[in-house]
Amino acid sequence: MVTNRFWKLNKYPEGNDFESALSLETAPLAETGDGEVLIKNEYLSLDAGTRMWMTPRTDSYQPPLPLDSPMMGLGLGRVVASRHTAFKEGDFVRCFGQWADYSLVKPELSDLRIMDENVSDPRQHFGVVGLNGWTALLGLREVANTQAGDTVLVSAAAGATGILACQIAKVMGAKVYGLAGGPEKCAFLTDSLRIDGAVDYKNSDVASELEKIEGGIDVYFDNVGGPILDAVLPNMALHGRIAVCGLIASYAEGGRLPGPSNFDQILMKRLTVRGFLCPDFFEIGNQLTAQLKTWLEAGKVTMPFDETQGLENMLVAYAKLFTGANIGKVIVKL
Ligand SMILES: NC(=O)c1ccc[n+]([C@@H]2O[C@H](COP(=O)([O-])OP(=O)(O)OC[C@H]3O[C@@H](n4cnc5c(N)ncnc54)[C@H](OP(=O)(O)O)[C@@H]3O)[C@@H](O)[C@H]2O)c1
Repeated sequence: MVTNRFWKLNKYPEGNDFESALSLETAPLAETGDGEVLIKNEYLSLDAGTRMWMTPRTDSYQPPLPLDSPMMGLGLGRVVASRHTAFKEGDFVRCFGQWADYSLVKPELSDLRIMDENVSDPRQHFGVVGLNGWTALLGLREVANTQAGDTVLVSAAAGATGILACQIAKVMGAKVYGLAGGPEKCAFLTDSLRIDGAVDYKNSDVASELEKIEGGIDVYFDNVGGPILDAVLPNMALHGRIAVCGLIASYAEGGRLPGPSNFDQILMKRLTVRGFLCPDFFEIGNQLTAQLKTWLEAGKVTMPFDETQGLENMLVAYAKLFTGANIGKVIVKL
């Protein structure tokens, strides 16, 4: 009998205490039903947005995960059994499945896609040519209408989505600044990614640092929300655009936080503020991948990985997103 280990959500976590809320379970591997595909996971992606699925809030873009059910996330792996005509054994695929050794999915509900095996590092299907790449490109191009010569500011700039937003904005011809926690991350942004400046939000007064940016910020790619957004708003340029990508400062709260106290700046600066969700653009995913693959192959955009070994270490890896221990994409190799 083949068994499957999976992470089960027992209660909604408080803060970053994931150990008390999830447990690693073992169960017999379920039969592959009609229309289903069974995947042996090789890598799992840790994504900050999934923290919201682990709260009871019902007014988010996705309902909370039911308690006593497997934790869900993005996985990369190989099809080991298929009862769906579009997929066959041996296909290398990516989908929303379980945090598990094996994911059993219905392709139509899990965005199951066959991956291009010509990408030299398969992990980049979670990176440059993955959903973080799509998100960064969408936020800059479709949402914020970034133009060459714009000044772009990115928060959580040394994280997966932020690193890509910084590099893509450079490719687009923008002047790019990043906000990140700590001197190591800021040095990475300026020395390795070669962006134009980085502000350590944990050890400086963000508002006064941003005041030094000549001409103000045309585009703010916001991954964070919270007090940093308040510091950014007065430093936006006239007719600036804000792409609201994520609000990681408030995901653990399980409810709404008060709006920005500098909200008036939206009128004073005639700003456009627009939220967006990558899955809303899934139908153009292959076009986005094609563009991103060109940049990846040309060495213009890359992604470092923070890789942890073993399904049993998922929670250690996951916590990094919220403590800021990662540079680049957090993944677990199975
Ligand atoms: N809209 C979409 O479709 C979409 C898609 C993907 C991701 N996202 C969003 O993008 C953001 C980044 O997600 P990711 O998965 O790529 O994670 P990530 O950036 O790799 O990791 C999260 C980073 O956020 C920073 N952070 C954590 N708590 C913070 C706080 N309270 N204040 C300021 N910074 C904080 C930490 O960096 P520091 O050390 O710099 O604090 C941490 O490394 C999230 O908000 C996520 O929801 C949105």
